[in-house]
Amino acid sequence: MTRDLTQSFKTDPAAPRVPAPGNALPYTPSAPRTAPSSNATGSVAFPDGFLWGAATAAYQVEGAAHEDGREDSVWDVFAKVPGAVLNQEDGEVACDQYHRYPADVALMKDLGIKAYRFSTSWSRVVPGGREVNPAGLAYYDRLVDELLGAGILPWLTLYHWDLPQAIEAESNGWVNRDTAYRFRDYAVTMHEAIGDRVDVWTTLNEPWCAAFLGYTGGQHAPGRQSREDGLAAAHHLMLAHGLAVEALRERAPDANLGITLNFEVEDPLNPDDPADVDAARRLDGGFTRIFADPILRGAYPLDVLEDVREYGLEQHIQEGDLEIISTPIDSLGVNYYHGNAVAAVPAERPLDGGAPVSRPSSNPFPGGDGAYTHPRGLPVTTQNWEVQPEGLTRLLLRLQQDYTGPRGIALYVTENGSAYDDVVGPDGFVDDQERLGFVDVHLRAVKDAIDEGADVRGYFGWSLLDNYEWAWGYGKRFGLVRVDFETQERTVKASGRWYGQVARANAVPERSAAPVPYPTGDDGGDKAVPTE
Ligand code: FCB
Repeated sequence: MTRDLTQSFKTDPAAPRVPAPGNALPYTPSAPRTAPSSNATGSVAFPDGFLWGAATAAYQVEGAAHEDGREDSVWDVFAKVPGAVLNQEDGEVACDQYHRYPADVALMKDLGIKAYRFSTSWSRVVPGGREVNPAGLAYYDRLVDELLGAGILPWLTLYHWDLPQAIEAESNGWVNRDTAYRFRDYAVTMHEAIGDRVDVWTTLNEPWCAAFLGYTGGQHAPGRQSREDGLAAAHHLMLAHGLAVEALRERAPDANLGITLNFEVEDPLNPDDPADVDAARRLDGGFTRIFADPILRGAYPLDVLEDVREYGLEQHIQEGDLEIISTPIDSLGVNYYHGNAVAAVPAERPLDGGAPVSRPSSNPFPGGDGAYTHPRGLPVTTQNWEVQPEGLTRLLLRLQQDYTGPRGIALYVTENGSAYDDVVGPDGFVDDQERLGFVDVHLRAVKDAIDEGADVRGYFGWSLLDNYEWAWGYGKRFGLVRVDFETQERTVKASGRWYGQVARANAVPERSAAPVPYPTGDDGGDKAVPTE
């Protein structure tokens, strides 16, 4: 293994880590930007050292779901529930990265990608949540060595939703506080095995989805539909994060530690209507502040506690929990796909962003009754997610100002991307100009935020490969690289080639087409709940 990374992603162990202030923030509406910025056209250079990466997650790409000792995760079981996943597809084989990782790493190196954000599977490393499985650990050992040998930074996430099924079935999953301590032990196990070579450790990916799509809405594994359970899971996921950060910091004071949260920018449809402002506040609270405030400010927002008062969240918050949850971190991962216009009444023409499965589901927001999202007449991806790059600019600036800036935490866009129906040409090539345009406008939006003061240090495209898109199965393709799921053949798409050039040049090239989409104000319908 050679180690040829252009820069270290370790942190300074002597740097002062600023404690959370111990208070939360109220919702303050902002408004969509209506004019293109100076970055909207022309070539746009990024700051020196900006990190260009691509992302995947274990269950979505690895396959080998029952090989070398791996046992069921909640997703293996959920995928078999009738009507839960389109075509009842599962991650048994996925992109077979478990066997094909050398070729995938070589592909990234060829493209010029500098960092690989992947997740480790708890169900592979500690099958059934019981004994450590050396064969499972050995896979990540090989993967990390392969990455380092190719000069690619391993950006490791410990949890991307694949809880060992035994912990769900026998111990009540994330509803049980004990799962947070078991997660900490698993984090330490991973660090003991590969902490000598991995500098960047992300505890959780998108706890909102794990807690509220998993335990309240039922759109994701384990598919429960309980407001009480979702809130308990959210608290215990955050506790797990804090416990893991404490344990990893003790083991490696210079590791770069963080968490990835998903964000939507919630704007009141009519900013002059107090009912719409309150509806936007509820979704902002239930999506963003319920995680960002405890983790980065050390307190639950009072309005959120009020919104969910009847569902028992507070009974799970023990003395000292918020100190653990707000243990200082170094980096915040930001996943952004779209924003919402929110009103207190439903829109006329619904635009549903969730997977069209037959299994009934519920509103994932415990405090979100009476809040409805409305389309704004923006272009949409094939999942009906609106393309709203200016929301990313506003989001990054808000995070910088209210959460990360005062504590010296760096921002990384750890996921951003789009599903479009790819057309394979006669030569096998996918000329995915829509996806290329999507990445282009979002990178320009990131640069807008940097120019206005956000400390954004990297961007990871979602996704390196077409993969298993949860309840959508294999039908929605997000890859910069196409995967033929019959043959496992990989073909770099136009967007992938373009992204590689961006990474090599550290700049987005000039582009005459693709005007940045801005809201038209057309209230076309209602997208009841966000369900990525
Ligand atoms: C995010 C997930 C990721 C992928 C994208 C499209 O919410 O983290 O696994 O499914 O959405």
